[in-house]
Amino acid sequence: MPNPAPRPRVAVILAAGKGTRMKSSLPKVLHEAAGRPLLAWVIDAARAAGCERILVVVGHGAERVREAIGGADLRWVLQAEQRGTGHALAQAEGEISDVAENATVLVLSGDVPLVNPATLDRLARGAEEGWGAMAVAEMADPGSLGRVLVDGSGAFREIVEARDAALEELAVRRINAGLYALPAPDVFTYLRNLKASNAQGELYLTDAVTIAAQDGHPVRLVDLPDPDEALGVNDRVELAKVHRLLLDRHLQALMKAGVTVLEPARTVIEPGVRVGEDTVIHPGVSLLGHSSIGRECVVHQGAWLRDSTVADGAIIEPYSVLDGAEVGDGCRVGPFARLRPASRLLGGARVGNFVEVKGSEIGAGAKVNHLSYVGDATVGAGANVGAGVVTCNYDGVRKSSTEIGAGAFIGSDTMLVAPVKVGAGASTAAGSVITKNVPDGALAVARVRQKNLEGRAGGLHRRKI
Ligand code: UD1
Ligand code: CA
Repeated sequence: MPNPAPRPRVAVILAAGKGTRMKSSLPKVLHEAAGRPLLAWVIDAARAAGCERILVVVGHGAERVREAIGGADLRWVLQAEQRGTGHALAQAEGEISDVAENATVLVLSGDVPLVNPATLDRLARGAEEGWGAMAVAEMADPGSLGRVLVDGSGAFREIVEARDAALEELAVRRINAGLYALPAPDVFTYLRNLKASNAQGELYLTDAVTIAAQDGHPVRLVDLPDPDEALGVNDRVELAKVHRLLLDRHLQALMKAGVTVLEPARTVIEPGVRVGEDTVIHPGVSLLGHSSIGRECVVHQGAWLRDSTVADGAIIEPYSVLDGAEVGDGCRVGPFARLRPASRLLGGARVGNFVEVKGSEIGAGAKVNHLSYVGDATVGAGANVGAGVVTCNYDGVRKSSTEIGAGAFIGSDTMLVAPVKVGAGASTAAGSVITKNVPDGALAVARVRQKNLEGRAGGLHRRKI
């Protein structure tokens, strides 16, 4: 006999709740862990598990959630009034009705972000072999999570919410992770018959699972080998815990792939960040968003990088800030440098302390070492920009650009009033205010000539001028 066609898998993510314990005006599922909203992690897991349809049940702050998450492949279901997890899932029935005759409904919680796609697959298989399946974990401190009770043979009997549990039930350490695979259309029949006879006056999804089991439907318990996967976020203490765990997962993967992270607990490397082999990351570093660091780089203490690219062998000195910047091979940045969006340093360039760069290209081997502002400029290869140089790119109305030729030498404290161009190999005298283009190889001097008044210094500092 041929194998029966696989049942379609539909994910329903419950994300309508208020999350009262967060004490926040932001809907709970939009709070961020490791740089992304909780709900985004859950959606990723549903996608990775090969669900052919993903429904998200929203209610509290529904519009805000939809806007923040986007996702052309998602279907949104509104639960206008939040009457419990069972009521939330029931709202999804309409969006499943076309496949409801034989679909497996994977139920996820928008506030359980460490869920693994492999677990969803195990749940779906468990349900397909019997009736339904739910994920359970053993927890030393099960807190407010639902307790899972079994009969003498170890088969599932009942889920009891902590608030409704008797003392001996509270002592049970096997908890409900809030992840289920349940068969449509049966589950919707059970949801229709729910009663809100519990401490919270809600329609519990857990009761539907319990009643189905009492009716003789087998509910398989799928053990989570790593109980962290079951962690839900109900308050900000749990949010911090989940944030750290998501970061630790990525840090461990990086370390195993050959990156030295000197103090992982004091390092933030968001999961979207790539780091190459033999790179050393010092404590207090934050690498955020879609940043990428090459091989054999050193990122020193306190550096903060977002959506920035650093090529092989570059050194980022302490307390530098890079936002949307691109740093070439073997460059050296900082300490205390700030590279703003669209800054590009070509191979071997050097940007030193208290230098701000914005929307500019610093050519190969060029140096901007001290106390400068370089905005909307191109600095040619091998040019040297002295201390305190400023590109005056804004006249109060519009921004203009500055061009510094290859090998040029810009004297300290030069003001380059844009639009202006300094030719290749040209120089400017220290303290010049450059308002006209400087030809290649020329020396521009634009400052008041010094006068020395012999013998006039005495006592001058005591006079009022
Ligand atoms: C739920 C389970 C509990 C389990 C825990 C795992 C129930 C009754 N209890 O408890 O057994 O151990 O998850 O984390 O299901 N939601 C809605 N609409 C609602 C209510 C909730 O969409 O009307 C959503 C929430 O936004 C949240 C998820 O469902 O994402 C879980 O709801 P929550 O109130 O956090 O349930 P728990 O008390 O954590
Ligand atoms: Ca919860």
